[in-house]
Amino acid sequence: MTILDVRSISKSFGRGKRRSLALDDVSFTVEQGTITGLVGESGSGKTTIIRCIMGLDSPDSGEILFDGQSQVKSGFNDRRRLAKDVQIVFQDPTASLNPRMTVEELICEGMLVHELYPDSGKRRAEATRLLEMVGLAERDLSRYPASFSGGQRQRIAIARALAVKPKLLVCDEPVSALDVSVQAQVLGLLVDMQRNLDLSLLFVAHNLAVVKQVCSVVHVLNAGRIVESGDADVVMSHPQDAYTRSLLEAVPIPDPRMAKARLAERLAARAARRAAEGAAS
Ligand SMILES: Nc1ncnc2c1ncn2[C@@H]1O[C@H](COP(=O)(O)OP(=O)(O)OP(=O)(O)O)[C@@H](O)[C@H]1O
Ligand SMILES: [Mg+2]
Repeated sequence: MTILDVRSISKSFGRGKRRSLALDDVSFTVEQGTITGLVGESGSGKTTIIRCIMGLDSPDSGEILFDGQSQVKSGFNDRRRLAKDVQIVFQDPTASLNPRMTVEELICEGMLVHELYPDSGKRRAEATRLLEMVGLAERDLSRYPASFSGGQRQRIAIARALAVKPKLLVCDEPVSALDVSVQAQVLGLLVDMQRNLDLSLLFVAHNLAVVKQVCSVVHVLNAGRIVESGDADVVMSHPQDAYTRSLLEAVPIPDPRMAKARLAERLAARAARRAAEGAAS
């Protein structure tokens, strides 16, 4: 079942000579219960897509269907439902968590807004359950975001997003502001959450290595256009598009043997290209 259906959306900014096309006929879907990746360099249009999905921006053309319903035609109640059903985890948890709110207030805010639990005791119990699920503890409820590490803050942001039981979790570069040492833990947490809660995730990142770790399907975005889509393993191992290949080549390889193998592959490909050019001329 398709939870999110982005159909031919285009979006430009500015007017006249300054007009630039940020999204050019972008289409993709997120299937229920999967982690779908959207990758592209800085400026490729990732955040613009997210803003359109969340209803914060509207595309110039095309439409976005969430759970089978078009957003453009939706009324107030649908928009309210969308605000609950689609939650987002931002890149920088320091900026996204209000520093004046305790962890309990941060996690319970959405439950209050969407009237999920009638009394504060139930909300607190639910907040505790969520905190434990993301690897923190009940005693953390009364603490403020500033007293946590970056990785812990992102866990709090994830608990806060999950508190309203969303159908789709959008993650905009969720680990790129974190220390490399904690990135894998937060990615692991997202994968666990997806499995345990049967969530659907749209995972947005510029780093293909990160996307490869968590996504089953990937869409590659280059200057506002989807240039390649498919099974994440296939796209990574046999990229068809030159832009995808350049993104992959930019990924640092920690294993020296693999790095050597990739270099040999590149040299062989270059030699083959030269030979073909020589034969053609
Ligand atoms: N409000 C805006 N006004 C004008 N131009 C904009 C606006 N928002 C985005 N753009 C332009 O649209 C393009 C896509 O931007 P977007 O923020 O979606 O990229 P991104 O892929 O999220 O990049 P990053 O990885 O740096 O976050 C860029 O060229 C950007 O300058
Ligand atoms: Mg962005």
